[in-house]
Amino acid sequence: MTKTILASITLAVFSMTSQTAMANSDINVEKIFSKKCKMCHSLTKKKMGPAFKDMTNDSEVLLSAITSGRKAMPKFNKKLSSDEITAMVSFIQAQKVANPCAK
Ligand code: HEC
Repeated sequence: MTKTILASITLAVFSMTSQTAMANSDINVEKIFSKKCKMCHSLTKKKMGPAFKDMTNDSEVLLSAITSGRKAMPKFNKKLSSDEITAMVSFIQAQKVANPCAK
């Protein structure tokens, strides 16, 4: 009896975590970048806006720039979900690690 209960709890937890993983993998950061950011940003070179690899690492600053905009940077709070914005913040932070010396 206890075993059956334990097994169903394990199953429930497992299906919950796999659902979360699926929801996150629906977000395609590369596609968001090409469609909504690439006209002003490059991963490694300065364009109208700074290169992603040259941006600050500060999650709060990145989050607020994307959510609320800043100067010529448009706000994306109506164009991207908060999960998508969070994913873009991690994507930007990953560029520093991926391109430590790129100019
Ligand atoms: C219309 C052009 C334009 C588009 C489109 C655009 N940006 Fe920007 N972005 C800028 C400019 C210009 C700045 C510099 C703002 C300043 O002078 O503070 C900037 C700044 C930023 C910053 C702040 C960087 C820092 O180090 O503080 C982040 C983060 C950012 N952009 C992310 C994005 C993301 C993600 C997208 C796509 C979803 C995007 N931007 C789309 C023009 C743009």
